[in-house]
Amino acid sequence: MTKINETKPVLVTGATGYVAGWLVKKLLDNGYTVHAAVRNPNNKEKLQHLDAIAEKSEGTIKYYKSDLLEEGSYDEAIKDCELVFHTASPFVTDVKNPQKDLIDPAVLGTQNVLDAANKSMSVKRVVLTSSCAAIYTDAIDCRNAPNGVLTEEVWNTTASLDYQPYAFSKTLAEKKAWEMAEKQNQWDLIVINPSFVMGPALNPKSNTSESINILTQMGDGTFKMGAPKMGIGMVDVRDVAEAHFSAGFTPSAKGRFITSAHNTNILEMALTLKYKYGKDYPLPKRALPKWLLMIVGPMANKLFSKKFIRNNVNIEWKADNSKIKKELGIQFRPMQKTMEDSFQVLIDSQIIKKK
Ligand SMILES: NC(=O)c1ccc[n+]([C@@H]2O[C@H](COP(=O)([O-])OP(=O)(O)OC[C@H]3O[C@@H](n4cnc5c(N)ncnc54)[C@H](OP(=O)(O)O)[C@@H]3O)[C@@H](O)[C@H]2O)c1
Repeated sequence: MTKINETKPVLVTGATGYVAGWLVKKLLDNGYTVHAAVRNPNNKEKLQHLDAIAEKSEGTIKYYKSDLLEEGSYDEAIKDCELVFHTASPFVTDVKNPQKDLIDPAVLGTQNVLDAANKSMSVKRVVLTSSCAAIYTDAIDCRNAPNGVLTEEVWNTTASLDYQPYAFSKTLAEKKAWEMAEKQNQWDLIVINPSFVMGPALNPKSNTSESINILTQMGDGTFKMGAPKMGIGMVDVRDVAEAHFSAGFTPSAKGRFITSAHNTNILEMALTLKYKYGKDYPLPKRALPKWLLMIVGPMANKLFSKKFIRNNVNIEWKADNSKIKKELGIQFRPMQKTMEDSFQVLIDSQIIKKK
C-alpha cells in the first residue's frame, strides 16, 4: 500500500509527448505541481499546449531540462517528488540505428530515471509507461499465449534488434525497471501497458508519435486503395492518461496493467471514420488482400517485411483488459468516438485536407 502525499510535486518525464500531454493536463486540472522533464525547455512550440493548460488550471508546471541519455539528468527534476511518471521513450519505427535510436534511450533512460529515484530519498512510487509491445510482437503471438489471449503474465519473446526493434526496446526497458525495483524497497513500481494509442492530440503539429503518423495516413490517401486487416489492440489517449493517474494514486495498485480498450484491426479502425468523413476524405473502404501486401508491402516500407505481413495481416489480436477495469476502475471510450475525435483534430489543424 503506497499513499502519495498530494501536496508534493509529481515528476512527468517526456512531458512534451502525445500520451504525456493528457496526463499532465489531468494532474494540473487536479491542482498538482508538475515537474515536467523535457529535452528542450526553450522549445516554445513544443510546450505551448502545456503552458495554455497550466494557465487555466489550479496546478503549476515547472520545466526541467533532461535527456534520457545523460546520466544524472533527472536528479534535479525529481527533487521532493513522491510520485514519478516515466513516459519518455522514443516511439518511432523508421530508424537507421535501432541500438542508438531506440534501445539506448529506452533502457539507459529507464536506468537514469530509476537511479534518480534511488538517490532522491523522497520517491515512493514509479509509474512506468511500458507497452503491449513488451507483451507481444506480432498478432500471431496471441495464438501462442495461454488460451489464445494476452494477459499481464505474458512477456514478449519474439522481438529483437533486427525484427521490430521498438517492441524490443520496450521489452528490455520494462525488464530493466522490474530488475531495479526488486533491488530496493524505497518505491514500488506500477507498469501501464497500453496497446496502440489513438485519440485527440493536444499539440498535433509538434507531436512526433507514430500514432499520429498512422492516423494521418488514414486520411491523406495513403490507404485509399484499402487498409490492411492487421490485428492490433487500441485505446484512447485520454483513457491512458486516466490509467496512469489512477495507477499513481491508488494505494493498492500492483504490477502490470494491460491498457487496451478494443481487440481490433487497422481496417476496422479506419472504417469507423466513414460515417462522418467518408464523403470528403480519401479513407480506406476495403481490406487490402494479403497476397498484394506481400508484393507491395516490403517495397513501400521496410517494416512491412513478408514476415511481418504473414504474422499480422488477417490475424486476430486478443488481450484481456479485465485487471485494469476491476482494480483501477478504468472505463474505456467507444472506438468510433476515439477515432472521430482524433481525426477532427487533424482536420482542424490542417494536417489533413479535403480530397
Ligand atoms: N502511442 C502509442 O501507441 C503508444 C502505445 C504504447 C506505449 N506507448 C509509450 O508511450 C510513451 C509516449 O509515447 P507517445 O506515443 O506519446 O510518443 P511521443 O509523442 O513521441 O513521446 C515520446 C516522448 O519521449 C521523449 N523522448 C524521446 N527521446 C528522448 C530522449 N533521448 N531524452 C528525453 N526525452 C526523450 C520525447 O521528447 P521530445 O519531445 O523532446 O522528442 C517525447 O516527449 C512511450 O514510452 C511509448 O513507448 C505509446
